[in-house]
Amino acid sequence: MLATLGNISLHLAFVTAAVAGLAGVISGQTGSRRYYAAACNGTYVTFGLLALASSILIHAFATHNFDLMAVAQYSDTRMHWMYLMAAFWGGQAGSLMFWTGTLASFSAIAVALHRRTDRALMPWFIAIVMGLAMFLMFILLIKSNPFDTFVLSDPPKEGQGLNPLLQTPLMVMHPPSLLTGYVAMALPFAFAMAALISGRLDNAWLVPARRWVLVSWLFLSIGNMLGGMWAYEELGWGGYWAWDPVENAALMPWIASTAFIHSMMIQERRGMLKRWNVVLVTVSFLLTLTGTFITRSGLIDSVHTFAQSDIGNYFFALLLTFTTLSAVLLIYRWGELRSAAQLDSPLSREAVFVANNWILVGMTFVVFWGTLFPKFKEMATGDKVSIGPPWFNQYLVPLGIILVFLMGVGTLISWKKATWKNFRRNFLVPVVATLILAPALCAGYWFLRAQHLELTLVPKEAGYAIGAVFASVFVFCATASEYWRGIAARMRSREEGPLEAALNLLSKQRRRYGGYIVHVGFILAIIGFSGAAFKVEQDVTMRKGEMVDLGDYLVRYDGLTVRQDKEKELIEATVTVLGADGTEVTVVKPAKAIFHSSPNSPTSEIAIDTGPVEDLYFALAGFDDRGEVASFKMVVSPLVWWFWFGGTVLIFGPLICLWPEGAKMPTNVYRRAARGGAAVAVLAGLSFSPLALWTMEADAQPAAQEHKHDDNKAGPVVRTHDPRLKRMMMMIR
Ligand code: HEM
Repeated sequence: MLATLGNISLHLAFVTAAVAGLAGVISGQTGSRRYYAAACNGTYVTFGLLALASSILIHAFATHNFDLMAVAQYSDTRMHWMYLMAAFWGGQAGSLMFWTGTLASFSAIAVALHRRTDRALMPWFIAIVMGLAMFLMFILLIKSNPFDTFVLSDPPKEGQGLNPLLQTPLMVMHPPSLLTGYVAMALPFAFAMAALISGRLDNAWLVPARRWVLVSWLFLSIGNMLGGMWAYEELGWGGYWAWDPVENAALMPWIASTAFIHSMMIQERRGMLKRWNVVLVTVSFLLTLTGTFITRSGLIDSVHTFAQSDIGNYFFALLLTFTTLSAVLLIYRWGELRSAAQLDSPLSREAVFVANNWILVGMTFVVFWGTLFPKFKEMATGDKVSIGPPWFNQYLVPLGIILVFLMGVGTLISWKKATWKNFRRNFLVPVVATLILAPALCAGYWFLRAQHLELTLVPKEAGYAIGAVFASVFVFCATASEYWRGIAARMRSREEGPLEAALNLLSKQRRRYGGYIVHVGFILAIIGFSGAAFKVEQDVTMRKGEMVDLGDYLVRYDGLTVRQDKEKELIEATVTVLGADGTEVTVVKPAKAIFHSSPNSPTSEIAIDTGPVEDLYFALAGFDDRGEVASFKMVVSPLVWWFWFGGTVLIFGPLICLWPEGAKMPTNVYRRAARGGAAVAVLAGLSFSPLALWTMEADAQPAAQEHKHDDNKAGPVVRTHDPRLKRMMMMIR
């Protein structure tokens, strides 16, 4: 019954999207108000129907309705409600449903927000987003329908459960964040296309496009960050970014849209780069389709591909269609998209933004090439090659350092033409402060911590790390000095106190200071990234009670415990970490989990003791059948915490940038309440931020029942039919 209702809503939504899209085209061509109203209302109705269909599917997962194949395939009755939600978008049909529903909801919000202000663009905008929604619904209906039921056999009593690798809080958040980022990127693209079709080639399309590209950028940032955390927490290789094709697929639109966020400012201020902006927003959108194509088609092997099938071909067709459409429109309007001004000087903010764009586009290309080259090569010659992190790092690390350095320059330099006076006034203090602070930080870290880790430094990596710290400190000083000059000016001219001036400045120039918050978050993440140069890493096999060195720590293996809960069996090692003076630093419990629903796919439960100076990271790699001997991956990972902290700071920036400009700071008694509310919002945001989620994950001890534990005699016997676990045991014996 519910399945039928879901199916009917989906079919009806397809029809209403078609009506809305067609009404949009007619209204765009004729200017008809009635058709325009029909297009807007059709968008709302499509959203309503898809919301109904999604709610039915969520209800089916929540009530374990195994009549639906999608529910039986991706969930079981033992799963926590949180993972039932993850199961909704964990499979092919559910993730497409989520995508389509989110597109419909964003389209409806965009129509509500812009239907009056952007009357000329909206009919075409609706035609494009509804066309895309129809395409997604078409795949849902003919290829991957979440409401399909068992026809030839009875529905099962129990579902197959979700891939154990996906059963972590990070994976509950990561896929929907990325999917939302992908979906939102369709909106700025649709505004750009609407501008090209309607011929409104002034800056009007940039206003809604900016809003939606920032929404997309925000979700892509969160999604990428959570994906990195998941890799760090679950995959057990000791890092968070491996330049895996699926990671790269999500990173490319993020980098390209970062370029667009900056280049649009030049069009808004100077009327330049009009063609370039259309190209960039189109490329950002097409890269989201490329990402989906890579993920869904199985074109490239990846550890992250979970919802794979032949629908990749449909996305390829969509990619070709939109590429052709945008190319034709761009060529058609090429002449009208001429720049209104020229670059006045290479020493200007515009020139730095252009450099920023070239670097970001270069980085996108490197990631694109590194991801797809092995496939191109295989298709051309039949040879299989693989491209690993060193290849990506050799280009991206130096480009990244130059980008960060320019970020500082771009913050300080004047528009149009920088004069010697501008350099002296704006650059002197930040440059001097950098020349004092950066060497102090590097030397402090080396003498207080790094030299004790008994590192074998790779000179190139250490050089890059030092370069990254210098560039980051420069950005920090540049941003602080800019902010301080703004505060001081307000204090002088309006007689405000420092805190009031700081808050007013933030609220009056949200775009600017929101952007600076993003920059500060980014450099904190870069500092975290540079910590990799000082990483200590080893794979060791130990007998119970034995100790090994790890940097300046001593690590002791204390034995195995087997624990059970209703979802899984947990084989947990106890590892004690001692400082150089023999005092206990921490006790950690890396484990292998065997989910009852997937006994053949044991997962690693990594143990991490995290902190701002360094993480102690332990993965249990293998053990013998009595727990007498176990092997581990152990890592001292310096500064990783800053990567997550920077990522958390970074996501507040777009929120500030997106805050509506009209929303003024309230006066008098409301002002205090507003500040209180803002403080609560910041705290709430921080608590649900990537950093908080990650700390929660890292600190969480599995709530399992102890099954058998014997510290003094022989260890617990681990019995398993799982071939992978058996292999691990064999390896140790
Ligand atoms: C050469 C490098 C860069 C330069 C020169 C630069 C410069 C700037 C400036 C000056 C602003 C404020 C604009 C204003 O005054 O209204 C800004 C905003 C912003 N920047 Fe950057 N930036 C650079 C790199 C980056 C990177 C790598 C990121 C991403 C991590 C980033 C993210 C942002 C965001 C999100 C905004 C807000 C844009 C808006 O609200 O429309 N920037 N950038």
